[in-house]
Amino acid sequence: MSDESGPMRIGVLISGSGTNLQAIIDAIAEGRLDAEVAVVISNLEDAYGLERARKAGIPAVHVDRTAYTTFAAYNAAIRDTLLDHEVDVVAMAGYMRLLGVEVLDAFPGRVLNIHPALLPAFPGPSGIRDAFEHGVKVTGVTVHFANENFDEGPIIAQAAVEVAEGDTVEALEAKIHAVEHELYPRVLQWIAEGRVTVEGRIARIAEHG
Ligand code: GAR
Repeated sequence: MSDESGPMRIGVLISGSGTNLQAIIDAIAEGRLDAEVAVVISNLEDAYGLERARKAGIPAVHVDRTAYTTFAAYNAAIRDTLLDHEVDVVAMAGYMRLLGVEVLDAFPGRVLNIHPALLPAFPGPSGIRDAFEHGVKVTGVTVHFANENFDEGPIIAQAAVEVAEGDTVEALEAKIHAVEHELYPRVLQWIAEGRVTVEGRIARIAEHG
């Protein structure tokens, strides 16, 4: 993904706290991820992730859905912001809205999402709690290519997390977030190395070298 023009440029879409964004920023700073966060975009003005971006010297942009009459125009504004910042790869990290075809078509096969459950189980905005309340013994984290539906598209990587006897939903959340923060930068590094391909609905990871 990276070429003579420099490291892979990631555009991160958020709606909230941005701990996954922070994990990406930290992985880059620590040399575990050969990339640059080119821009952070939030649909919510008060998302703490925008503050994290500013602290790291990364352009932080609020794109307000209510400023656009249509979903298409809103998504076109997101696309244009990503293109303005010369983004190579889009990483949704707690972005809690559907993504429009305007963005998906501008970055074909280059939009990723992270979800805190083992998809296709427990999609949606409360995957951790839904799995916990279902009584599963194993849940986890999924990183996948995105499509126009919530939490859907070719799965790149999954990591399992056990629900231990006596775990509270808060304890499970903490375990899952720790796994997310390790997995997302790792998958982004695979993307940067050009190791991830998709055939139909199956994503494949090539071995090193
Ligand atoms: C993360 O757990 C992410 O997997 C989840 O939102 C959280 C954002 O946390 N995404 C979804 O549920 C998508 N369906 P963060 O803002 O601290 O990174």
